[in-house]
Amino acid sequence: MITYHEQNRTIKLDTPNTSYVLGIREGGFLLNLYYGRRLPDDNLWSLAKRLKSASFSPCDPDDPNFSQDVAPMEYPTNGRGDFRVCALSVRGADGSSVTDLRYVSHRVTAGKPDLPGLPHLYVTDDTQCETLEVTLCDPCTNVEAVLVYTVFHDCDVIAKHVRLTNRGNQTVKLERALSSCVDLPSMDFDLVTLWGRHAKERQLERRPLGHGLQGIHSIRGSSSHSHNPFAALVQTGATETTGDVYGFNLIYSGNFTLTAEVDHDATTRVVMGIDPTDFGWLLAPGDTFVTPEAVHVFSADGLGSMSRTFHRCYDAHLIRGRWQKQKRPLLINSWEAAYFDFDTDKLISFAERAKELGIEMLVMDDGWFGKRNDDTNSLGDGFINEKKLNLGRLIATVHGMGLKFGIWYEPEMISPDSDLFRAHPDWCVHVPGRTPSIARQQYVLDVSRPDVRENIFAQMRSVLGTYPIDYVKWDFNRNLSEASSALLPAERSGEFFHRFVLGTYALQDRLTREFPNLLLENCSGGGGRFDPGMLYYSPQIWTSDNTDPIERLNIQFGTSLCYPASSMGAHVSACDRTGYRTKGDVALWGTFGYELDPNKLGTEDREIVKAQVKDYHKYYDLIHSGELYRLLCPWDNAFVCAWSFVSEDKREALVTVVRMRRQDDVLLHLKLQGLDPDAMYTVEDTGETYSGALLMYAGLEMTDKAWDDGESCKLHLLAE
Ligand code: GLA
Repeated sequence: MITYHEQNRTIKLDTPNTSYVLGIREGGFLLNLYYGRRLPDDNLWSLAKRLKSASFSPCDPDDPNFSQDVAPMEYPTNGRGDFRVCALSVRGADGSSVTDLRYVSHRVTAGKPDLPGLPHLYVTDDTQCETLEVTLCDPCTNVEAVLVYTVFHDCDVIAKHVRLTNRGNQTVKLERALSSCVDLPSMDFDLVTLWGRHAKERQLERRPLGHGLQGIHSIRGSSSHSHNPFAALVQTGATETTGDVYGFNLIYSGNFTLTAEVDHDATTRVVMGIDPTDFGWLLAPGDTFVTPEAVHVFSADGLGSMSRTFHRCYDAHLIRGRWQKQKRPLLINSWEAAYFDFDTDKLISFAERAKELGIEMLVMDDGWFGKRNDDTNSLGDGFINEKKLNLGRLIATVHGMGLKFGIWYEPEMISPDSDLFRAHPDWCVHVPGRTPSIARQQYVLDVSRPDVRENIFAQMRSVLGTYPIDYVKWDFNRNLSEASSALLPAERSGEFFHRFVLGTYALQDRLTREFPNLLLENCSGGGGRFDPGMLYYSPQIWTSDNTDPIERLNIQFGTSLCYPASSMGAHVSACDRTGYRTKGDVALWGTFGYELDPNKLGTEDREIVKAQVKDYHKYYDLIHSGELYRLLCPWDNAFVCAWSFVSEDKREALVTVVRMRRQDDVLLHLKLQGLDPDAMYTVEDTGETYSGALLMYAGLEMTDKAWDDGESCKLHLLAE
């Protein structure tokens, strides 16, 4: 609900359990008065009591008691006396970058507007949310900023983006145009972020806030393996189940910044949006720039509840299309099974064995096009390598067995050794006069260019429109350098990174529109572009190239901070760190599959795989529509990890425990979460019955399970 209180000029945005309060101060300053647990409507203006003047900092000429520098500014700007990190900086035609936004008007509407060309949260019915638009304007440049907030009625989420329009008559340049700012009156927080690298994505890091700037960013051209566009401010001492937590996530797949600044008054400002490094956007009179959308979640019950809010929201309001709710096929992927070394018969043999095991889809990974038998060539040449493959026979045979068929692409890349590069050397991202840098033997295609996108799409259509292909894995295997486009004039070069991301979105949008039945899975050397922008186009993303189940625990626990089980590609591979049982129990958390040569499975392992396939079907609904509880996290406990999925009605739960390292003589009472304390639950395997209260408050005694390193177990609980 969104309410305007005329008397004290406050606007209150309420989700079921949280409130966000804006104040319009004399002079038209828009203030961020409160964000947190839900408040009643009384005395809201008292939240502004902390406003004061700051020594040395300018004050409002009309009010000596008000300095922007110490006020909780809702969309802070550059050059008018707020010296903290700002959200907007506009270089005017006179060369100055002073920006000063004042309130003009606001309006509230049912539903949510689309963000053209950008991924965003959506609703299927206008009654599911309300949207507030607050219009601000700079009286000198006439740059207008419309701050757009959507509150959802079914989850504690506030989405926010900004529309910047040049209402003046001279061209200006946006030098910084962030999506959101939150000012909190405390620094008693830890900053939680997800760092990583290839094959070690989304590792949780928690550090206390200190004075000054701290945060994460990407200037790699994609959201990247290094940092995910997610952060949480976690009240000091807060845990999985207790304490105040603010979660922030940017729906964007390119360069981003997520920065917290603590000032001398011990207040904390968090800003997020497109990273300003190498960013600059010319706004001619009448032009509009729309920022990516930022997602805000507040939880008074720790990190676990924050994550479940993100999961519910993304399952309902971000992931789209036919596959949003439809059961995903259990797949086998050829990459770790064969790498580049396959032909039609080898893939058919995978499909035959897979079929015997109950697997539902064969995915042919890299190596089917151009003359590609290793990673040195052919990206950009999306025609079938007929010397290697008879695609028609392969698909007909696989479909004939009742299996679906999927294929790998890396559309935004080009090999120097390719027909496409020989024909269009200027189509790769490069700066004329400099040798383009190479990574994984490839350059990046300039998808900011419509002609390049047209070519990519035509090539994809010629395969996907000819053969009945059910699934595409869309990969992206390098960072961007020499970021520049031959079509952009020099004064617009700062637009390149964002235009590149918009180009990727345009391609994925077109693909999913023209092939609405296709199941799209994004990938970027594993999970280098695992972000909500990509999730808008593809309901699942390959989480990591690391399929070692013990290392996967950290990756999957980290990923789950923000992203739902339905989005996490998780496969069982031939890696021998643990037995097949543990590999399956860990992979069951995500969109399940195999990444191995099924011809090489021993008899015993084949039986385990068959049982896993049964489990996949048995627990699918529970995992994909239930709620995740992280019971023992790998960042808190080096020995045992545990998580559970609990059905919405709390009648059913699946608990998974993995013994990472054996620890003798230590008791393990595993305290469950999210159950009905008054219900009696039976453990399916043993027939033992416990109350929900006992399972949650005393814990399930598991000390006698003397597992070895890398062993796991699952407990299926059913309420009587
Ligand atoms: C990336 C992906 C892998 C595989 C290879 C193919 O690394 O993450 O799963 O598709 O590319 O080259």
